Amino acid sequence: MRHMMTLADLESKIQNVPREKIAFLPTPLQILPRFSKALGGPKILMKRDDLTGLALGGNKTRMFEYLLADARKHGADTLIGGAFVQSNYCRQLAAACRATGFEVELVLRKLTCDDDQNFQGNFLLDLLLGAKVHIISGDAEDQRQAMYRLAHRLEAEGKTPYVVRMANDGDLSLDAISYTVCFCEIVEQCQKLGIQPTHLYASSYDSTQAGLEVGNRALGGLMKIVGIAAETREGQNPRERMARCADLAAKRLDLPFRFSPDEIDNTTEYVGEGYGVVTREGLEMIRLLADTEGILLDPVYTGKAMAGLASHIKNGIVTKDDVIVFLHTGGTPLLFSYGEQLITEEIMELITYDTDRLD
Ligand SMILES: Cc1ncc(COP(=O)(O)O)c(C=O)c1O
Repeated sequence: MRHMMTLADLESKIQNVPREKIAFLPTPLQILPRFSKALGGPKILMKRDDLTGLALGGNKTRMFEYLLADARKHGADTLIGGAFVQSNYCRQLAAACRATGFEVELVLRKLTCDDDQNFQGNFLLDLLLGAKVHIISGDAEDQRQAMYRLAHRLEAEGKTPYVVRMANDGDLSLDAISYTVCFCEIVEQCQKLGIQPTHLYASSYDSTQAGLEVGNRALGGLMKIVGIAAETREGQNPRERMARCADLAAKRLDLPFRFSPDEIDNTTEYVGEGYGVVTREGLEMIRLLADTEGILLDPVYTGKAMAGLASHIKNGIVTKDDVIVFLHTGGTPLLFSYGEQLITEEIMELITYDTDRLD
């Protein structure tokens, strides 16, 4: 692919976009020698966006650097976010608002009938971060309407609300740009290490991969980007969403290219039974990475993405000669809300109750 611009040129375009610094960047790029060996495949490096720094980290923290700057520009004082009860997005939104002086209200939808009774994981952290939480029943459309009703109520009370995510579904370009920044970091870090990656793997359904695609295209197509989705949505194709999102981000950065869905590699093959349902392969990856490197993946996003990479290694889609960067997008608190489902018989064998056997 034609080389279009230098890293410095791309970074200077990004610098024109208003940003509120809340993340610890650049996140580390870590070589995983024992994990690579265990998978018997290529050299694997991990971009540690689970360490973005805000209340247990994750990919959304980067996105809020741009969204909060936009909210500030609009004179907002209260941010309204909406997703599932155990949302990483909402937990990082709550922390980002706390770190920058915004009020925050969350409209949360149940994924299971009683997940609002499980004060664990992200939901626990939302509350500890002092977010006002509204639990609703119904579908995504009911949630969207509830968020707008809340915004109207806050306006009537004299506040200036700014609705994020659900309402912004049409334009996720600011979220995506934060991942063009991440792509630039990866390129710079690889240059310093003298490594030329062939592939970049990430868990994504929209803005994360879209932003990486923009960075890769701007710099001339340095590596193949492979997205592994954690969900399927009826009537929607993640590649179409990503192309649209990448187009909007490229336009905002004044970059002279556009995307078509067939240029984007994203698969829903590793979702398993559905969003938020643990897969055996995902769990195996959580255990293997923990055993070999002491790093924690999560059961909903990164564990499934890693299962995708492991399967691609097994099937020869990537070979021993390739060099892989796996983007760890976070999700750590989900380990706690899924605790019971992660405890297998094999893990139980790690516990000894009979103290005599210590002698
Ligand atoms: C841990 C984690 N990884 C990946 C993603 C996917 O991000 P996106 O679909 O916005 O690219 C999310 C989204 O919530 C997430 O929480």
